[in-house]
Amino acid sequence: MYSSWCLQWVLFVGLLGTYVHGLGVNWGTQATHKLPPKTVVQMLKDNGITKVKLFDADQSTMSALAGSDIEVMVAIPNDQLAVMTDYDRAKKWVSKNVTVYNFNGGVKIKYVAVGNEPFLTSYNGSFINVTFPALQNIQNALNEAGAGNSIKATVPLNADVYNSPVGQEYPSSGRFRTDINDLMTQIVQFLNKNNAPFTVNIYPFLSLYGNDNFPFDYAFFDGAPQPVVDKGTGIQYTNVFDANFDTLVSALKAVGLGDMAIIVGEVGWPTEGDKNANIGNAYRFYNGLLPRLASNRGTPLRSGYIEVYLFGLLDEDAKSIAPGNFERHWGIFRYDGQPKFALDLSGQGQNKFLTGAQNVEYLPQKWCMFDPNAKDLSKLADNINYACSNSDCTALGYGSSCNGLDANGNASYAFNMYFQVQNQDDLACNFQGLAMVTAQNISQANCNFTIQIKASSSSSLGLTLVGSVSVILLTILSL
Ligand SMILES: *[C@@H]1O[C@H](CO)[C@@H](O)[C@H](O)[C@H]1NC(C)=O
Ligand SMILES: *[C@@H]1O[C@H](CO)[C@@H](O)[C@H](O)[C@H]1NC(C)=O
Ligand SMILES: *[C@@H]1O[C@H](CO)[C@@H](O)[C@H](O)[C@H]1NC(C)=O
Ligand SMILES: *[C@@H]1O[C@H](CO)[C@@H](O)[C@H](O)[C@H]1NC(C)=O
Ligand SMILES: *[C@@H]1O[C@H](CO)[C@@H](O)[C@H](O)[C@H]1NC(C)=O
Ligand SMILES: *[C@@H]1O[C@H](CO)[C@@H](O)[C@H](O)[C@H]1NC(C)=O
Repeated sequence: MYSSWCLQWVLFVGLLGTYVHGLGVNWGTQATHKLPPKTVVQMLKDNGITKVKLFDADQSTMSALAGSDIEVMVAIPNDQLAVMTDYDRAKKWVSKNVTVYNFNGGVKIKYVAVGNEPFLTSYNGSFINVTFPALQNIQNALNEAGAGNSIKATVPLNADVYNSPVGQEYPSSGRFRTDINDLMTQIVQFLNKNNAPFTVNIYPFLSLYGNDNFPFDYAFFDGAPQPVVDKGTGIQYTNVFDANFDTLVSALKAVGLGDMAIIVGEVGWPTEGDKNANIGNAYRFYNGLLPRLASNRGTPLRSGYIEVYLFGLLDEDAKSIAPGNFERHWGIFRYDGQPKFALDLSGQGQNKFLTGAQNVEYLPQKWCMFDPNAKDLSKLADNINYACSNSDCTALGYGSSCNGLDANGNASYAFNMYFQVQNQDDLACNFQGLAMVTAQNISQANCNFTIQIKASSSSSLGLTLVGSVSVILLTILSL
């Protein structure tokens, strides 16, 4: 009796403890070749991921999520914020992209992200005047539609909306950036009035990137040799994530809302495109972060569970690399849905891989390479340039896995990436006579010459139709 009880208890606790409670991921889709949305949703389920944050409200994605029980944050991209300052447009957005999915077997929408890091200093204030009106309109439209109790509008903000003043660089002196302090105050008061959370993206990798004086170990969770002492509170900080989060807690406190709910909308580590972006560092970062989250310890100034969305799910080869070459390599999965490194979502620190996407369809085993017999090399640089401008050559850069190639290897890498983006079209492996197709795997050492996946098409069509049918049904019902 006793032993079977004990066994059951162990099994029960084992099941409960299988995943970090309520862990989310960001599912971006800026890729030349996307996995079918249904395949991605199955992958989320297979790995016990129960929350997903999107960057739009694309219908095929939403259809795949329908009936899955996965909690969803849908989003309004920055370029749509200006139109959402018109209340009727905002109501339309809410009705077409939120309430339409509110049926048995529909999509469990929990949040609407209004914009994405709209106050980044690099945007030069372009979204300063439209973000708050858009936020108000979307939440008011949700409220008017009777959905406002369960669905909250929020604005995912970059951590540069707050800081600590020069000379007092520690968390407890955190304040909103002076140029947007009034605006931020209005926004958080509005969020608070609607019981909506503050959403912030925190990137220890970016603290390190481009700042050679940043203490390297402080970016991770396994203890910096010299903790940073907060002169206001005496608290010792051993990692920049806690320090950053608590700077926000202090900024909220300074405007009288120190207990406001905070969601970490994005946190993660890229695996290519910079000397610090590699699998080893990503492994170290995540395998420190996840046990931390599983412990529900919180940060020194805010104990308890933190709602967190990892960034990101998949590599995205069509993202802008303006922020840096690493931008296309944030996935915990590769472009083809296969895990890159051991990552234990239970936070128990077990050295195991996530479950990859199932039944992925690849293009044939064909590569495009530099033709070693090519005579006229005068146009080589132009052709490499063309190939790289229209595909992803970021793995060739300094600190990346293909940085050590010779000149011919560089050309082959560029030509192959373009050829794969073009679905291995023979015409895409010519380059003025400089290239040829090969069936031989020309990968070298650590550098993968990849084969693209078949672009998602027919398999998602059926889903889209199912989605449209329910949309049509709902439209009819609401007439
Ligand atoms: C709904 O969201 C989609 C995808 O983000 C967008 O293209 C569309 O314009 C939105 N619909 C409305 C009515 O705003
Ligand atoms: C912001 O201003 C800088 C310098 O004037 C310019 O190079 C950049 O393109 C601008 N960015 C945006 C998003 O407008
Ligand atoms: C925002 O509004 C202010 C005040 O009306 C104006 O001076 C500024 O040019 C506006 N900014 C943008 C990007 O439209
Ligand atoms: C190959 O390309 C990379 C990235 O553009 C460059 O840093 C490197 O010098 C190139 N190698 C040769 C041998 O040309
Ligand atoms: C090509 O070779 C590399 C390195 O040996 C290997 O990792 C990769 O899986 C191979 N690619 C294919 C498509 O077989
Ligand atoms: C290359 O691809 C193989 C799987 O095909 C993977 O195991 C390996 O980690 C990849 N290497 C790099 C540097 O991305």
